[in-house]
Amino acid sequence: MKTKLLHLSISFFTFSSISLLLFLNPAASDPQTNLLIRACSTYNATNRLAFFSNLNGTFSDLRSQLNSTHFATAVRAQVSDPVYTLFQCRNYLSTSDCLSCFSVATAQIRNCSAANGARIIYDGCFLRYESNNFFDQTTQPGNSGFCGNQTAAKAVGFNQTAEKLLTDLYVATPRIGGYWAAVRREGVGGAVVYGVAQCALTVSEVGCGDCLRVAYGNIQNCPPDGDGRAIDAGCFLRYSDTAFFSANQTVDLARYLRGDSSKKKAIIGGVVGGVAFVLLLALILFLFIQRSSETGKTHQGDILGATELRGPVNFRYKDLKSATRNFSDENKLGAGGFGDVYKGVLKNGKIVAVKKLIIGQSDRAKADFETEAKLISNVHHRHLIRLLGCCKKYTELLLVYEYMENGSLDKYLFGDSRGTLNWKRRFNIILGTARGLAYLHEEFHSCIIHRDIKSSNILVDNDFHPKIADFGLARLLPEDQSHLSTQFGGTLGYTAPEYAIHGELTEKVDTYSYGVVVLEIISGLKSNDLRREPTKQYLLEWAWNVYENGTVMELVDENLDPNEYDAEEVQKVIEIALMCTQSSVASRPAMSQVVISLLSRVQTAHELTRPTFIDVSNRVQRATSISSGSSANDTRLSMSFSPTV
Ligand SMILES: *[C@@H]1O[C@H](CO)[C@@H](O)[C@H](O)[C@H]1NC(C)=O
Ligand SMILES: *[C@@H]1O[C@H](CO)[C@@H](O)[C@H](O)[C@H]1NC(C)=O
Repeated sequence: MKTKLLHLSISFFTFSSISLLLFLNPAASDPQTNLLIRACSTYNATNRLAFFSNLNGTFSDLRSQLNSTHFATAVRAQVSDPVYTLFQCRNYLSTSDCLSCFSVATAQIRNCSAANGARIIYDGCFLRYESNNFFDQTTQPGNSGFCGNQTAAKAVGFNQTAEKLLTDLYVATPRIGGYWAAVRREGVGGAVVYGVAQCALTVSEVGCGDCLRVAYGNIQNCPPDGDGRAIDAGCFLRYSDTAFFSANQTVDLARYLRGDSSKKKAIIGGVVGGVAFVLLLALILFLFIQRSSETGKTHQGDILGATELRGPVNFRYKDLKSATRNFSDENKLGAGGFGDVYKGVLKNGKIVAVKKLIIGQSDRAKADFETEAKLISNVHHRHLIRLLGCCKKYTELLLVYEYMENGSLDKYLFGDSRGTLNWKRRFNIILGTARGLAYLHEEFHSCIIHRDIKSSNILVDNDFHPKIADFGLARLLPEDQSHLSTQFGGTLGYTAPEYAIHGELTEKVDTYSYGVVVLEIISGLKSNDLRREPTKQYLLEWAWNVYENGTVMELVDENLDPNEYDAEEVQKVIEIALMCTQSSVASRPAMSQVVISLLSRVQTAHELTRPTFIDVSNRVQRATSISSGSSANDTRLSMSFSPTV
């Protein structure tokens, strides 16, 4: 079968420049592997070994999924050169035909060599990979249509029948669960038309509709040609005067078109007419919003794009379970104060962090969860981790956050990567964290006190800008316990004394913890490690002593290159940290003042007062010893503190 090119602009790659190889396959022995298009990116992967190993990895991930599905995605991002791969078979293919189409596609796409993106489209299947996530793409520049070069055998009534069939397909298919429809139509003149429409399962209903509408536009002028095909990033549309799937595989579109006659008129009347088009889009959008609010269901595609701004997305438990491979230990990123955190890869390829909360299971806790999740999901700031959505199932409460590849700050201060941060990066983290806190305290419409600021709660993005995690969660702990909760046990070195001991809560509690974190960033020492033989002091105590002795530069991490920092600036930052950790709550600055001080060149002379030292261990030389009372594990919480002198 020969195909002729109707029109073709540029490829739907996301790259600025592409090489497009177009193959018009004269006679494929297997009609399913009749090649429609193959294109390779003009850019090559940087690390070929990593790239090929990731690419091969995605191929084997896809292969293993295809025994039970016609659509699969896979992501591999080991070492470098991440690869996102998507494969889809037309649903009329049997599992074995689908697998053989996959084999042909993976073999052929290798002709693109080390190109960092490629796609190959056959009548029976579609394979594409890229170095970035494209799974939610619908219609892209380069979408194209191909008409056959022979007039339909039975031309009488063929045009109308084909047109009607294609319009019905693009209206109905987005509403069908699997985004797939195969239809046979017989027109009044006896002309028979076969058609299929399909969208990638990772696009939204609206996106599927948009894509198929464009596809329809690309082949609507093909009749009376006997066949036509339209390709795009997120969909496929095809019609023919000869059967290309078996009769028992057709779908009855009637129930997906019902209550839609006015709309259909608009479509037939003037798809090209701009007004009808806008109205149609508005209508589809309206129906979509109405439906999703009725069912409360979320499509994967909603997680991305504009709808992300709407508030907490309700994730399905089973999607999160499969994203985290059943919350496997391999996917565990760490154990936070409020529960374990897992890395998850959603079906659309987006990588997320999923937190399983350990909080009370009372009705009140659950109601609070909803309120807090809603509140937190509305916090948008570049130095605060984004909450993407949540999920509630029986006793499990899950929060889905954006994922930070570089992990948490403590790793760079005391962990595997210790000593790797230069002063510029450290200063940016100090400043960004202050900005994030200032927003939470003063700019967001409801003051959020974090209560658990520590270096393991500060994550860093690819450019080493900080993002604060876990804000808003402390409010989920019962009021009377939060300050003594065992979950705070490990982070006592950061907790303001008036809060740890008396439960006195103000935003200055965060200011105090922030001061401690700044000292950690400068010194590379943990706040709650006892160091400095022979004096055996904690970081804060030691910092105060060197300040009093006028030798604060002793604090500076020896991994820092003295040529890289300005001693006066470092000294200023140390003084700001000590201002934050003062014993008197009123003397501690608001976080917005901290931001101003960090940015100002001139050092304002402040009379600093001594911090209250609070220890995790029982250091008897300190004054009043108190115990935390009845909470579990409270032996760890016995503490001593010395009142201000
Ligand atoms: C990837 O697979 C191809 C084909 O099977 C093979 O030639 C190549 O060596 C593999 N590369 C890596 C890095 O695994
Ligand atoms: C559909 O028809 C084909 C033959 O045309 C047959 O092999 C297949 O089993 C049928 N499938 C179903 C679900 O009836």
